[in-house]
Amino acid sequence: MRSRKVQVMVISFLIMWTFITYYILLRNSNGQLDAMHQSQQVKQILPKALTERSKSLRLSQTLIEFLRLKYTDPQVTTTPKITIVAAEISNELLEQESKATHAASVATSAQIPTRTYLANGEPVIPILVFACNRISVVKCLENLVQYRPSIEQFPIIVSQDCGDELTKQAIQSFGNQLTLIEQPDQSDITVLPKEKKFKGYYKIARHYGWALNTTFHVGFDYVVIVEDDLNVAPDFFEYFLGTHKLLKQDKSLWCVSAWNDNGKANVIDTAQPELLYRTDFFPGLGWMLTKELWSELSVKWPKSFWDDWIRHPEQRKDRVCIRPEISRTRTFGKIGVSNGLFFDKYLKHIKLSEDFVQFSKINMSYLLKDNYDNTFLKQVYVLPLVTFDELRLNLIAMEGPVRMQYNNRDQYKRITRMLGLMDDFKSGVPRTAYHGIVSFYYNKRRVHLAPSANWKGYDLSWS
Ligand SMILES: *[C@@H]1O[C@H](CO)[C@@H](O)[C@H](O)[C@H]1NC(C)=O
Ligand SMILES: *[C@@H]1O[C@H](CO)[C@@H](O)[C@H](O)[C@H]1NC(C)=O
Repeated sequence: MRSRKVQVMVISFLIMWTFITYYILLRNSNGQLDAMHQSQQVKQILPKALTERSKSLRLSQTLIEFLRLKYTDPQVTTTPKITIVAAEISNELLEQESKATHAASVATSAQIPTRTYLANGEPVIPILVFACNRISVVKCLENLVQYRPSIEQFPIIVSQDCGDELTKQAIQSFGNQLTLIEQPDQSDITVLPKEKKFKGYYKIARHYGWALNTTFHVGFDYVVIVEDDLNVAPDFFEYFLGTHKLLKQDKSLWCVSAWNDNGKANVIDTAQPELLYRTDFFPGLGWMLTKELWSELSVKWPKSFWDDWIRHPEQRKDRVCIRPEISRTRTFGKIGVSNGLFFDKYLKHIKLSEDFVQFSKINMSYLLKDNYDNTFLKQVYVLPLVTFDELRLNLIAMEGPVRMQYNNRDQYKRITRMLGLMDDFKSGVPRTAYHGIVSFYYNKRRVHLAPSANWKGYDLSWS
């Protein structure tokens, strides 16, 4: 009897010790660690500790199994209590073990800096970079690290899918300049045979869903999304710093994008790097969204083609983005992706802004819906109407902005092709359009290509 008591005490002690160790570990890895080296240490210790822990769990389980065999022997009927307790403990241990494995698999996300606001009240805005198997992601990261004004305010989180080892090493070579998180679900995605060629788009959507969930889960109010093939402008961070408040002030806004789809050098006003627009078109390519928008979209996030999906009226709900006159991102091309032609024709000509605009010092209220619609929309429709030939041949007597009109889809396509603008639509919306108006710069003047004044809204069939 005495030896049994001792045995039970030893086991209880072992179990207690296991839980205490686990608790301390959890506290350390979840707590607010502001010192970088402390979190580094935890990072190093965590995997070892988890291994040790599962060793000790296995040991306890063996002991419990031993006890069970001993006490559940049909001849021994005097100790049913111990059997029940042992069984309960061993169940609990199994549960804990599966939690521990889970903790190990999300250990990387635990390293995301947890501070969401700075002492001065400004938000921490993580830059979430999507990477897969292109080592050229270093070009993007070098750029981000180079222009980043504050590591505290703009933590760079690189989310890697695809598990490519060389790309991972390339990302890790940035050390504590960034946090690497890895998309854990590398399972194959089953698609219909005719969708096979689109499998990549399914993986991208899954990756976006996971990474955004993981990042917003920390509690950030804003996140900026960057893809691994983007270069950013010197004032990229300043741009988001200056505009983030608009997303909270104006519920008709749902994104700030750093991209101008018609950002080619010959159709922008290089003298106005501070100029921003509202657009009904979702540009993507370096863009910021809020926690509120993510909680709305995350529950119905699509399995593929997330960018077409997000542009659909069911998601957009007439909300608009801010976009710059001069792009703050530029794509250096996705090698091996089927849009090579598109890249050569348009994307590689997009001018990346070189100026540094102090956006956070500029009064942005002209971009709020009421102000903008009262000025921009009214101004456009009192401007003189000109034809393409008059514009091209410079036959317009007065200086200043003008308006051109389009009345149908084919006319829109013809005019934009002649002007060297993008001619396509997504969910009926022309690129960069606001209320159907596409604004650009041509022969040293501002031109607004606009539908008639009694415009009735976008036509889905134009896509
Ligand atoms: C994100 O997390 C929420 C809540 O846990 C869940 O409902 C949703 O399906 C997740 N979305 C994605 C895209 O993973
Ligand atoms: C910002 O501009 C608006 C007009 O668009 C004006 O009413 C407001 O007073 C300005 N705010 C500041 C702080 O200057």
